[in-house]
Amino acid sequence: MTFTVCRSLVVLTTAFTSTTRPVMVRAMILEHEPRQARVAGEAYVSRTLRARKRKDMQRKREHNPIVKTNRLVIKEITTRNADDMFEYRSNLEVQAYQSFKPRVKTEVIDFIKRNTRTFNKEETWYQLGIFLNEKMIGDIGIHFIGPENQQCEIGYTIGQHEQRKGYGKEAVIGVINYLFKELNKHRIIASLDPNNEASKYLLESIGFRKEGQFKKSIYNDGKWEDDLVYALLEEEWNK
Ligand SMILES: CC(C)(COP(=O)(O)OP(=O)(O)OC[C@H]1O[C@@H](n2cnc3c(N)ncnc32)[C@H](O)[C@@H]1OP(=O)(O)O)[C@@H](O)C(=O)NCCC(=O)NCCS
Repeated sequence: MTFTVCRSLVVLTTAFTSTTRPVMVRAMILEHEPRQARVAGEAYVSRTLRARKRKDMQRKREHNPIVKTNRLVIKEITTRNADDMFEYRSNLEVQAYQSFKPRVKTEVIDFIKRNTRTFNKEETWYQLGIFLNEKMIGDIGIHFIGPENQQCEIGYTIGQHEQRKGYGKEAVIGVINYLFKELNKHRIIASLDPNNEASKYLLESIGFRKEGQFKKSIYNDGKWEDDLVYALLEEEWNK
């Protein structure tokens, strides 16, 4: 008996290798107990297929993340969302504490096209859209920090007409759960203009700690500004 004549025999051999039966006994089983051998082979194939499916699902989740909350879906942004995104991102009040200040729609299209294709890659930013009934009402950026890729920075925006309805908080909580529970991150930070009251309230209302204010450390619109940093550890979130 040789184990190399056909694929199924190779599969059967591999299946039995994981048990304690020696090779000779396996050969006998193949000759004298073909039914048992077939059943074991099928079980092995189905285990392998299940494992492959699990891995594919995991890869899909990591590369094309979708976070669902009570009212929102947070997912990939495509150029089809450019109109929605330009509508809220071009608003001057929304732009007040942001570095991205688009004046024409093509700037938003370029931004979407430049968005990293690979999610959860160290030293990159990835922008997700916040959708309410298929309309994009905001976005949330995730910066995967450091070579060990265990820390993230988040930045969030909600269109002016949808502010103060709890959407910002709901989206941020959904993404934090995803980062800590699905991607096993260790620490999440946010960096903001100390005058940005709405952002401060949002972070404090969900348990972020103020870690420090760095004097004139951000160069924005031709002037040096302070940077206020908030942080949250995984153990603080899950306690
Ligand atoms: C910051 C921002 C995302 C908040 O989104 P939002 O959907 O309006 O926030 P929510 O309705 O979920 O409110 C969250 C908490 O902050 C409070 N809050 C929100 N805006 C506030 C404001 N302008 N003044 C005081 N409190 C405010 C809410 O009362 C709520 O607290 P509570 O849950 O204890 O009642 C939104 O204001 C925004 O997009 N601003 C422009 C872009 C920006 O500056 N992004 C942050 C960059 S760091």
